[in-house]
Amino acid sequence: MNTSSQQAPRLSPVVAGMWRLAEWGPDAAGTVRWVEQALELGITSFDHADIYGGYRVEALFGEALAAAPGLRNRLQLITKCGIKLVHPARPATRVHSYDSSRAHITASVDASLQALRTDRIDLLLLHRPDLLMDPDEVADTFAQLRTAGKVLHFGVSNHTPGQLALLHRRFPLVTNQVELSPLHMQALADGTLEQCVDLGLRPMIWSPLARGELFTSGGDQAQRVRATLAELAARHGVSPATVAYAWILRHPSRPHPITGSHRLHALQEAVAATALTLGAEDWYAIWQASMGHEVP
Ligand SMILES: NC(=O)c1ccc[n+]([C@@H]2O[C@H](COP(=O)([O-])OP(=O)(O)OC[C@H]3O[C@@H](n4cnc5c(N)ncnc54)[C@H](OP(=O)(O)O)[C@@H]3O)[C@@H](O)[C@H]2O)c1
Repeated sequence: MNTSSQQAPRLSPVVAGMWRLAEWGPDAAGTVRWVEQALELGITSFDHADIYGGYRVEALFGEALAAAPGLRNRLQLITKCGIKLVHPARPATRVHSYDSSRAHITASVDASLQALRTDRIDLLLLHRPDLLMDPDEVADTFAQLRTAGKVLHFGVSNHTPGQLALLHRRFPLVTNQVELSPLHMQALADGTLEQCVDLGLRPMIWSPLARGELFTSGGDQAQRVRATLAELAARHGVSPATVAYAWILRHPSRPHPITGSHRLHALQEAVAATALTLGAEDWYAIWQASMGHEVP
């Protein structure tokens, strides 16, 4: 059953993750250049969260949007809310916690709109499951934000299938943004991705290269996966990173991987994976390398 495709936002196949933007240290002009280059590669969707960079990343990106009129209409903005960090930028927060109340979501969206210097967010996600969530209140808040034109689409992140279903029954969600890589395969095993297939929601995938550990970790699992990626990369004439992205893209839920790199070459390696369809044996070879054993 595909209940949500009509409402789905048009995200690029590969999404650019902005988590580390503050560390990259560019000025507004440098960010404009970087975004333009990403757009040329076909990456038009940019993943934010209110908390990224200690509540600074959205504003840095917003400065770039303000410096380049017209840029906003060529890209999609994704952002998240619901995590409260103990941080000087939020002096009222005493405890690292989650908040999905109407007051918090509404205030967070208004702050994101102001920081990003835009009149609309294309996709808003609840960043983490709030154990105290009132799903009716969240659904009503989402409906109000959509009616006000402040947010066009809604989803969740890091939610279990049960948590997603609780909200989806009340308000149509378009994604669950979850972790998946050959080093972190829980979403393949706990029903998360099957639920996306069932509901017609395209998942977004964070840390597709396991924060770089796929290439830097000395652990046994990473070494096995690296050897398999290298073998497949040589066979297909692409880089190991491209094979890792192709492994994610091969899933029938049609995931959108989110890159985390500042390097344009790394973005190119991700986009190249959209032209590579792995055979099932190649896919399972990577699964086997990760698990350290064959399928039963
Ligand atoms: N919803 C959530 O809870 C959540 C959680 C985490 C992240 N996210 C989103 O997902 C995005 C991506 O996450 P991520 O940054 O962890 O993704 P990632 O692509 O798995 O990791 C990126 C890191 O890996 C490094 N890297 C990339 N290619 C490499 C290579 N060939 N060799 C060694 N290191 C390499 C990058 O360094 P270089 O810059 O030097 O390439 C960067 O530090 C974030 O920006 C954020 O938007 C969401």
